[in-house]
Amino acid sequence: MNTKPFRSIEQLIAGVLTSDGAGVKLTRVLTGQLQQRLDPFLMLDAFGSDVPDEYIAGFPDHPHRGFETVTYMLAGKMRHRDNAGHEGLLENGSVQWMTAGRGLIHSEMPEQEHGSMEGFQLWLNLPASRKMIDPWYQDIPSRDIPEYVTPAGVTVRVIAGSSNEVAGAITRPDTDPLYLDIHLPAGTRFDAVIPATHNAFIYVYRGAVSVGDTLVDSRRMGILKNDGDAVSLHCKEDSRLILIAGRPLNEPIAQYGPFVMNTQEEIHQALDDYRNGRFI
Ligand code: CO
Repeated sequence: MNTKPFRSIEQLIAGVLTSDGAGVKLTRVLTGQLQQRLDPFLMLDAFGSDVPDEYIAGFPDHPHRGFETVTYMLAGKMRHRDNAGHEGLLENGSVQWMTAGRGLIHSEMPEQEHGSMEGFQLWLNLPASRKMIDPWYQDIPSRDIPEYVTPAGVTVRVIAGSSNEVAGAITRPDTDPLYLDIHLPAGTRFDAVIPATHNAFIYVYRGAVSVGDTLVDSRRMGILKNDGDAVSLHCKEDSRLILIAGRPLNEPIAQYGPFVMNTQEEIHQALDDYRNGRFI
């Protein structure tokens, strides 16, 4: 099977507590400083709260251009609407994959007044040649996310890419992203193949997971060193994590808030287009 070495942890990241939208409390795990290192990923936000005041204001109308957003809802209900005419409800275990491309304006609003809201939003960059493609959008209900269980009882949900020959819900040829949600019962181990070309990280959201000798605690990201084509995960207690990997684009990144292009000139153009109603 795997003859090359397993990847080790290069760095542990706690993220930054912040708020976004109209005041949603979240942890920005992948911040601007990590965009080069974790190319093609631009941002990862983790949100999770039982306190409605921390999520109820949601994310009213705002624009995006030049990349894709991937929202994975572990718990809660969020309604998406955009000016390209798409509308959908994100619910427990579902994913929304949205290509902003040349630009759209959307809202992401909680459709609940109590209970817990938990999940992730990942930003995946597009290559320069495809930043201005038409916006695209797909809701993937939880039942349509392929998953498998190993003989040891590890459950693997394959959101993007493929794992153990199980094809995921989404394939993106530009960066070949792998996005797995892995549930490890206490005392189990799981080895995941990661293409050697890919930048990769894990984020543990329940329990604690060991990679080699390094323990990655709950609410910690572990950046995986580019030193192998697999990672071996094991845990003492029931644990859950997401594993994300992608082929780097190696292109310049120019970001201004929700616009991610390659040059400042393109950022100015994005602002001008947005202010003058040219986002569709
Ligand atoms: Co948005």
